[in-house]
Amino acid sequence: MRLELPEPSLVVLVGAAGSGKSTLAARLLPSNAVLSSDAYRALISGDETNQGITRAAFAVLHRDLARRMAAGRTAAVDATNVTAFARQALVRRAAAAGVPAIAIVLALPPMLVLARNATRPGRIVPEAAVRRQLDDLDRSLRRGLDDEGFAEVHVLRSLDELDAVEIDWRR
Ligand code: CTP
Ligand code: MG
Repeated sequence: MRLELPEPSLVVLVGAAGSGKSTLAARLLPSNAVLSSDAYRALISGDETNQGITRAAFAVLHRDLARRMAAGRTAAVDATNVTAFARQALVRRAAAAGVPAIAIVLALPPMLVLARNATRPGRIVPEAAVRRQLDDLDRSLRRGLDDEGFAEVHVLRSLDELDAVEIDWRR
């Protein structure tokens, strides 16, 4: 599966913890293009799992995102983005910069996501939190993301699709 995406664009990754967003971002994008909420948590508090500084982390992420897009550079936001509220803020940033927002949704089977999260090395997210994210994602997909302002919405529903997806940048 090859996605032909405009350069620059704002790639919004959407998926519960453990669905493979960071792994996908590392494979498809240069590291300087990826703005990860966990990295901003670590930057601010020294702890990438610190949920108490979420607002501060996202404030800085948004500031850097705005700068990068103003410079005409492609950016990707590696955060769960499972609620319309979270996605809306990013779509607005992209629109303000005149850059198309592209959603890439990791809609893998919930059991797989829960199992991956539970068995991953290092950081394991509490299961109840992952279940909430899966519920939010399910609600989003039932409604559809089509009226949220994205130029394109790509939904990956299996591990095969996730592992096979590639990006061709259109300049
Ligand atoms: N993983 C895997 N095969 C893939 C992608 C991911 O085995 N093709 C594993 C990773 O090694 C990791 C786990 O699945 O142990 C979760 O992947 P990660 O990319 O870290 O998921 P995220 O969606 O980034 O999770 P979070 O929101 O918690 O950062
Ligand atoms: Mg991650």
